[in-house]
Amino acid sequence: MKLDTLRPLQGAGKRLYVETYGCQMNVGDSEILVSILQDEGYRYTENISEADVILVNTCSIRDNAEQRIWGRLKEFQRYKKKNPKLIVGIVGCMAERLREKLLSESPIVDVVAGPDSYRDMPRLLELAAAGSHGVNVQLSEEETYGEIRPVRLDRNGVSAFIAIMRGCNNFCSYCVVPYTRGRERSRDPQTIEAEAHELFDAGYREVTLLGQNVNSYKWEADGAEVDFPELIDRIAAISPMLRVRFATSHPKDLSDRLIDVMASRPNVCKAIHLPAQSGSDTMLKAMNRKYTRQWYMERINAIRSRIPECSITTDLIAGFCGETEEDHRQTLSLMREVGYDSAYMFKYSLRPGTQADRIMHDDVPEEEKLHRLNEIIALQNELSLDSNRRDIGKTFEVLIEGKSKRNEAQLCGRTSQNKMVVFDSDGSLEAGDYTTVKIEDCTSATLFGTIIAR
Ligand code: SAH
Ligand code: SF4
Ligand code: F3S
Repeated sequence: MKLDTLRPLQGAGKRLYVETYGCQMNVGDSEILVSILQDEGYRYTENISEADVILVNTCSIRDNAEQRIWGRLKEFQRYKKKNPKLIVGIVGCMAERLREKLLSESPIVDVVAGPDSYRDMPRLLELAAAGSHGVNVQLSEEETYGEIRPVRLDRNGVSAFIAIMRGCNNFCSYCVVPYTRGRERSRDPQTIEAEAHELFDAGYREVTLLGQNVNSYKWEADGAEVDFPELIDRIAAISPMLRVRFATSHPKDLSDRLIDVMASRPNVCKAIHLPAQSGSDTMLKAMNRKYTRQWYMERINAIRSRIPECSITTDLIAGFCGETEEDHRQTLSLMREVGYDSAYMFKYSLRPGTQADRIMHDDVPEEEKLHRLNEIIALQNELSLDSNRRDIGKTFEVLIEGKSKRNEAQLCGRTSQNKMVVFDSDGSLEAGDYTTVKIEDCTSATLFGTIIAR
């Protein structure tokens, strides 16, 4: 595998350690940060105890995400004691949300930088090195870091994420993202294509196009327009050997054209993550999701009729403001009606400043939220197992990601539907190869099979 066309790690100056929380957007942003800082001579390290600068890329999506980071900041105190010159920077969504509060509440924080101010990071770190605080939480309407070549930090060498847009305009009433990441903006398609090309040439075989609502991707220049179906078609055209995935789709913007592009391109993976959040129309309205259950089911049926083998996964929130037992039953019935292949499931967590915080009541008792969440999880386990059982006896093309974690003699990889498959190695295959596997057994989380042909 040749990795030499990717941007190498370099730099001989201060040692930079980065810890990343939250979604894939944050993972991508950390790679942009390292890229910007190594141009200034900083040297990336994975060893926190030798760091001159620690950056924590943070998440605010639920209260427990923030609590974890507060806990981490306490732990950093001992590094600061050992090395008083150590600089600690909080970046990302929690930095944007809490701003100077981070400086006043934690004695060890030197720098606070929001998601749109990473180009300013060298200056902010210099301010901190000179003994003052560096703060920049300005959000931008244009910043996409489009031309910055990220340094790939988590390289398995097979699959990579490419951010195609930033921000969100949807203002779902429970959600903090529009406040922490600002307005939605799309990245220049040429830089996206160039990045995908570069990854493919370096041996990568899968790219996931990322945004909070990829279906509303839109780039206009010189009278021409590129929308999401067009973009995905272009990326898929790079090579039939390059798999293309995307996340996340907002149901209200999932177009028939996108479904058509997915159906017509074998290398666009047959997997759609379509967060429903709730099965109750009353809750969907309160959440400001802008679709009804009927509309959502119509989109599901459109996918199923054009791409019968497509997997459908979702996000669900239990115990949102005003949710009754009947609303909750509606969520369970939606889950059965769709038959989700898998789901991310959460208890509602009030986020300060959101619509829900300002005009609704977080009135479902904690234990009731937990009870409902547990019912949702139990049902999804059944549905995931059903879904995997339906695959027994079928064959799938699998893109190998590497050795199985549990057994070195086995390989693991994913189907187009994004299901993990574990199978015995034949000795000749390695990460980045495609192979065909017949499924023989499963759990609710994993398929097990045997290679049948190459
Ligand atoms: N943009 C994506 C979601 C990003 S956040 C989309 O709209 O699909 C990922 C998930 O976190 C959401 O889909 C939602 O299910 C969950 N989430 C967001 N805010 C939350 C909150 N305040 N409490 C609990 N879960 C939340
Ligand atoms: Fe949050 Fe809704 Fe935007 Fe997703 S679409 S990031 S849930 S506001
Ligand atoms: Fe968290 Fe920000 Fe992502 S709040 S989920 S890191 S966009």
